[in-house]
Amino acid sequence: MSSSDSLTITRPDDWHVHLRDGETLPHTVRDIARYFGRAIVMPNLVPPVVTVQDAAAYYERIKREVPEASQFEPLMTLYLTEQTRIEAVRQASNDELVHAFKLYPAGTTTHAEFGIRSIESSYPVFAEMEKQEIPLLLHAEVNTDDVDIFDREAVFIDRHLIPLTRQFPDLRIVFEHITTTTAVQYIEATFDKVAATITAHHLMYNRNDMLAGGMRPVYYCLPILKRKQHQQALLKAATSGNPAYFLGTDSAPHPRSTKENSCGCAAGCYTAHAALELYAEVFEGLGKLDRLENFASHFGADFYGLPRNSDTIKLVKQSWDVPDTISFGANELVPIKAGQQVAFKVVPE
Ligand code: NCD
Ligand code: ZN
Repeated sequence: MSSSDSLTITRPDDWHVHLRDGETLPHTVRDIARYFGRAIVMPNLVPPVVTVQDAAAYYERIKREVPEASQFEPLMTLYLTEQTRIEAVRQASNDELVHAFKLYPAGTTTHAEFGIRSIESSYPVFAEMEKQEIPLLLHAEVNTDDVDIFDREAVFIDRHLIPLTRQFPDLRIVFEHITTTTAVQYIEATFDKVAATITAHHLMYNRNDMLAGGMRPVYYCLPILKRKQHQQALLKAATSGNPAYFLGTDSAPHPRSTKENSCGCAAGCYTAHAALELYAEVFEGLGKLDRLENFASHFGADFYGLPRNSDTIKLVKQSWDVPDTISFGANELVPIKAGQQVAFKVVPE
């Protein structure tokens, strides 16, 4: 049901989010639990979430922060390391809380130092994932010196993803936070075993927003923002109605002090304060608000083999001001659209 200034949709889920831990957990959980039904929670803590026991303990810490009025359920993931064995895949696939494994090629992004150096050496583990039908979530970038930072995703497809899907045609893969026309073309050619999440910030911005007229750390994330033609391909993909694409914010908080740093700006954009509202702005801008529900609330659950949420939420066209900073434990962070307006708001029904 929709009219020009209000839209009621099935409760959405976020299929890729970083909630962190410790003193920052109350802040991230408060934001994610406002209206999302579920979220795939990334395991890149320090140390990472590698066993079902780690995941259960992290799940409990998250649940403790969920406000009473919210039904939010965290969907846990395990961090694939070079020590991950077949037995761990069996345990994970029999575990109620764990829904996927996450592969970070070593060193590619925040807290990826525990990741995989040789993807081929994990093939026995992928074979078991294929057998157990547990999804593999990919940070699909190479970070070798020979590859330009803007080409990391496209090179990963050629070097690793194509061989991986040939070897394991039934492995369920989520190509996380896609950023390029190459990734879109790849997904168009391969669905239904490979799906993709798309972030709000990769739909809203391109590398000019980050670099032209001065560097803006708030937009620095990995995979890095690409040129406008790639942004346009992502906009087309997200609003196409193709069930291979679904919402994954990759909301990844970092304190202002580690982003606005003379060297080594931390990678990650915070969007959980306004996630669905930002996607709604994007979809409306393209005249495709009617496609938001499938992208935000249906296609992800379908891919993961989970039921769609049974209740609804209401979005209204109502501007509100994003603060310049948000408090974040003992620190503060600068969210996406800091000091600007967002045109939509989720309101009680
Ligand atoms: C993420 C983080 O900060 O944990 N950073 C990012 O730039 N997206 C890690 C990741 O998903 O790459
Ligand atoms: Zn991420």
